[in-house]
Amino acid sequence: MTGRQTVYLTRDVPQEGIDRLEEECEVVVWEEKTAPPHDTLVEELAECEAAALFCTVSDVVDAEVLDASPALEVVGTMSVGYDHVDLEAAAERDIPVGYTPGVLSETTADFGWALLMAAARRVTEADHYVHDGEWETWGPKILLGRDVFDATLGVVGLGSIGTAFARRAAGFDMDVCYTATEPKEECEAELAEYGIDAEFCELDDLLERSDYVSLHVPLDDETAGLIGEHELDLMGEDAVLVNTARGEVVDTDALEAALEEDRIRHAALDVTDPEPLPADHSLLDYAPEKLTIAPHIGSASVETRTEMAVMTADNILAGLRGEPMPNSATENAGVEE
Ligand code: DGY
Repeated sequence: MTGRQTVYLTRDVPQEGIDRLEEECEVVVWEEKTAPPHDTLVEELAECEAAALFCTVSDVVDAEVLDASPALEVVGTMSVGYDHVDLEAAAERDIPVGYTPGVLSETTADFGWALLMAAARRVTEADHYVHDGEWETWGPKILLGRDVFDATLGVVGLGSIGTAFARRAAGFDMDVCYTATEPKEECEAELAEYGIDAEFCELDDLLERSDYVSLHVPLDDETAGLIGEHELDLMGEDAVLVNTARGEVVDTDALEAALEEDRIRHAALDVTDPEPLPADHSLLDYAPEKLTIAPHIGSASVETRTEMAVMTADNILAGLRGEPMPNSATENAGVEE
């Protein structure tokens, strides 16, 4: 026995995060490609008497998980979103929860643009076209996309990622409108420095006006199913929907119907409901012509995932020392610890 506390990691994460934890703790890593199933996670935590749980967006951290190890003192999620963690249950048990805000905003905004551009200029279709041996000639009407420059961009949720995403529109001379729970003067001022006059508007108005709609809201009771049949109808047949937020923000059945009936032009999704999306899911029938899809990789750059792992380790170590976490989801969500 070393007398050191144990941190249980549900995934193998960038080594820098593990090294940081090993300076002060014993580390147990679930080495599989997929996250431990819920029951297995409960068993694993109990078995190693974990004092800390290092989790990701793939883990459901509910009361049962929080009660699995009597020694459990802290939870750190390697994510900015914490909808998978029951913060109330954690607070009831005096278990602080850390998260990783800010660090992934630029990387996720980059990826949102990768999806937007791929959808606008039919990049995935073009790739298939060449691989499938269809490229016989330059063609005046082959794979015509839609312009991004001069178009209208609607940003749903102007937080850190939404602002970083909107800022990139400056290079494309776009009109930018946004919706949020209230006008965001600071974010507007930041965007104004880049020559963007971001206009606050209601969601319905934004959907009607925008050629490209990009979602950047956290998942909560207010935002679950935010984009449904009515909203997709407002978007119109030439509009593109980009989602790098959470799959549940969009009603999948309504989206499928809208794609089927050409009520919107394209959906470009990094997140889905369900997630992961089974390979035989009917939504995939629309790819690549109407659907561009990625497996939740918005923050997946070497630099950012490394920083996220280290931030998560720092949150956990602070919590184990009884110090305030550098980034506390518990406090951010306004739940009393
Ligand atoms: C997050 O951090 O919440 C992303 O969805 C995964 O990086």
